[in-house]
Order: sequence, then structure tokens, then C-alpha cells
Amino acid sequence: MLAIQGIAEAGSGHPGASFSAAEIMGTLYLRKMKHDPLKPGWNERDYFINSKAHSAPGYYAALAMAGYFPTEEIKTLRKINSRLQGHPVRYSEHQKHHSVPGVEYSGGSEGIGLSVSIGIAMANKLDGKKNRVYTLIGDGESNEGQIWEAAMAAPKFQLDNLVAILDRNRIQQDGFTEDIMPLDPLRDKWLAFNWNVIEIDGHKVEQIIDALNRANQLEDKPTLLIANTIKGNGIKHMTNNPQWHGKAPPRKHTPVLLQELESECLIAPSIIAGERENYEEKVRKAERGGADIIHLDVMDGRFVPNTTFFADTVRKLRHITSLPFDVHLMIEDPLDHLQDYIDARCDIITVHIETCQEKEFITIKEKLLDSGISPGVAVNPFTELPDWVYSHTEDIDVVIIMSVNPGYAGQKFIPEVLPKMVKIGRMLRDHGYKGYIEADGGIDAANLQQVYDSGARILVAGSAVYGSSDIHGAIIQLRHKANVALERRLIEHATKIGIRSDWMKIRKHILIPLASELEIEGELHAIK
Ligand code: DX5
Ligand code: ZN
Repeated sequence: MLAIQGIAEAGSGHPGASFSAAEIMGTLYLRKMKHDPLKPGWNERDYFINSKAHSAPGYYAALAMAGYFPTEEIKTLRKINSRLQGHPVRYSEHQKHHSVPGVEYSGGSEGIGLSVSIGIAMANKLDGKKNRVYTLIGDGESNEGQIWEAAMAAPKFQLDNLVAILDRNRIQQDGFTEDIMPLDPLRDKWLAFNWNVIEIDGHKVEQIIDALNRANQLEDKPTLLIANTIKGNGIKHMTNNPQWHGKAPPRKHTPVLLQELESECLIAPSIIAGERENYEEKVRKAERGGADIIHLDVMDGRFVPNTTFFADTVRKLRHITSLPFDVHLMIEDPLDHLQDYIDARCDIITVHIETCQEKEFITIKEKLLDSGISPGVAVNPFTELPDWVYSHTEDIDVVIIMSVNPGYAGQKFIPEVLPKMVKIGRMLRDHGYKGYIEADGGIDAANLQQVYDSGARILVAGSAVYGSSDIHGAIIQLRHKANVALERRLIEHATKIGIRSDWMKIRKHILIPLASELEIEGELHAIK
């Protein structure tokens, strides 16, 4: 969101690469690297070299969110006298106003950053220092011969303190990489150059963290992460579209683009639904079916009249997928059992406000944050969210609003929770909440639009997914409904700010397949 604000304000910049590498740079600065924004020159810091420097707006966004400079400054991107120019300038105490704190390398002409990283990694090794070096390279950039010279050199010096991350978005300045200079089989090439090679989905934070952890364990060889990414990811009309490599969207589109970026909808199948047990197979089917998250309902037979499974089952399921585990604790005394779920390596752990007071919740959230797990709270359909929750919005990542009385899958959706969902969503935002509203219970393709319009962005689906013989098809249908709901809201927003036809024109290829559901066929057809 910061990157698009900067690019739109400047009227120039590279949205494509800023978006394809967003999760990579965000994860490095916010979850992985040892660094201190207050001490850019800290001797113990890990190094990040951005060799595909045209991704500068995304890079600046990560640095700003990490605290190197105020996020507001992104709006000065490419302006005269701004230190945030089109390509980053390495930080220097002597040039404070013309260099960027946190930037280790003045990028621009491509193909050089990997060599610079090798120099830094070798120096650290020679000095017996443990600092790690991460470098971001591009696939278009891999046309440069110097990349391959560097690829030969790093294993020679056994630089196991170096991780190169290749932003494999398959598009470069003037087209698709495989048309311009085919790189595949990329994996085999780097293996043949004697690198460790790990391939991941570059938009999945949990896969990035897992791969970096593995790379940091490996010895005697540098590691290459092939991060399969999508150019322009997050804005549908920019997705996989070479024309958005280095083109800025019209400034007047910014409010609608920002809405789209915060409207990503995640489908979370609830594995207690459908046939009893066989959880392993259900997790596999959900992942194959394109789910974003796995929803795990833990029930103790006390807080709710049903008993499902506990931490040992969660731990057993953990190795099946790297999809995030969203554990919904419907248990009494959650604090007493919390460590078991922390040890089971969950990504989100949600406790019911009906089972803990603020004092316990503070202990719970601190334990979770210390373990890198997202804290969540859940509220039953006819319970109000207590005021104390609003003083913890900075630390809470998920608020589950139950749309059935907890205890079983397959129950009927309670529509009375929709206005409550809207009200709670508004109050949370008023308290600076940046997390997700999650709707849980009785959600299906028929009511999904209402739930989406009420503010839910994580949609739990039990029987709507596992009640179907075609799990993949069921997830696609739910995602399609969410897409229609999103496009309708974006058109409404565009209309409100007076850019309806302009927006529909730039979005035409996305809207055509949805035109009948959006009742815009005639209007869309008239737009040339
Ligand atoms: C109910 C659980 C839900 C439920 C969802 O207590 O929290 O997650 O399993 O299943 P459906 O979508 O079938 O209501
Ligand atoms: Zn649930």
C-alpha cells in the first residue's frame, strides 16, 4: 500500500517488481533479519542487498515499515530533494539527506548486487563474523553475465552465510523472460553451479520463513531461493502484465487501488466438517484445492458440548502442509493449555473472550507474540466484544465473529451477526486495528457476499467445502463469489470518487468474465 501511494504520487516507478517482491522484503525486515533501524551501521546486523533496485518503492516501503524512516516520506518518492529516488542510494552519515538509512548498496544498473553480496559475505567470514547476507536478484536481471560469474564464485568460497533470493516473476522490462532469454531449467542451472537450491511460493510468508530457516542451517554452500512470484501481485489488472513493469497508475485511482490491496480474501476450510476424522487427508485436499489457511477447531466438551481434537493432533498435522494453521480454541482455561499449541507450531491461535478475562488474555498474547504466533480473539454470536479488546488492537491479528453457536460444523448461518460484524469492524479500525475479521460458521456461496460486505476477510468454510465431493471446485466457487463481491465494491468506490468509467476501462479484462453477475454487460461493452 505504501509503494502504490509513492508510485502514484510520483507518477512514475515500478509497481510490478515492488509487488512481486513485497512479501520477500517484508518478511526479511519484519520477521527474519537481525537489524536495528535506529542503528543502520550496527556491527552485528545482517545485510540485505537489493540488486533488482527498480523494486525501490517496495524496498522503501519495507524499510519504512521496519522503522528506518517515517512511512509518510514515501509520498516524496522521486521528488526533487527527496532521499527516496527511483533507485536507492546507499546510506552515508555524510550524506544524510541524499541517502537512505538501511540501504547497503546503491543499485541501478542490474547484475551487480550478487557480486557485492559475495564481497560482504567473504569479508564477514574472514573476520569470523556471524552476520548473514541476503540479496534479492531478478530473473530478467539474470540475463546479465555478471550474475553467472558471481554464481560460480560464491560456492568456491563456501559462502554458507549468503542467501540469494531470485524473484521469479517471469516478466522483465519488455516482456516475458522465457520469450526474451529463457532461464529454465533454472533450478538445475544453480544446482550445477553448486548452490543449495530451495523453491518456494514467494508470496507465502510461512514458506519464506521456513526456507530461510533451512538455508541458515545449511553449511559450506550458498543458498538460492527460487521464489515463484507474480508480477504486480495484489492488483488484478497489473497481475502478470508486462506493461506494469515500470508504469505508474493514474493518481486518481489510488484510493481504489488501496482498497483492493487491503481486501484480499482468505478461504479457510474447517477440517472438522464432513466425514469424521481422516484429518490428514482433509488437510491435503484443502491444500491441493487452493485453500489459503487451515482452520482447526479444538473443542474440549466443556466450553462447547462437543469434543474434537487437541494439540497432539495439531502437531501431527503440522508436517503435512506449510499452509498457515488457524487454531480456534473452544476450550475452558486456554492459558493452562496454551504452551501445547505453541509447541505444535500454529500460526494463529484464537481464544474465546467468553473463556478469559483481560488479565489472562494479556499473558496469552505476550506468550504468542514472543513465539512469533498471531494472537486472535473469538466472540460468540450473541456476545458483545468486551471493551478491553479495543486496547489490544495493535497486538491482535484476528477477530473471529462466530456466525453459529460454537460446537459443530454444518449448522445454519445466523444472519443477525452481520450488522454486529460491521459495527465491530468499524470500532476496531477506529482503534487502529490492522488485522483480519474472520467469519466462522454456516458460510457458503449463497451468503458469502453478505459476509464479505460486512467486513470479513478470512472466511471459514466447513461443510461448504468438505460437504462437497469436489473440494477444489467448492473452494474455487467461494473464491469466485469473493471476487465478485470485491469487484462490486471497487466499482462502487470508483463511482463515488468520479472515476467509474476510467476504472472499468483499465479493469475491463478482469470485469468481462464477471459482467453478468455485476450487471454491467452493456456498460462494459460500450467502454472502448
Ligand atoms: C463451529 C466451528 C466452525 C465450524 C465451521 O464451532 O468453529 O469452524 O466447524 O463449519 P461450517 O462452515 O460447516 O459451519
Ligand atoms: Zn471455528
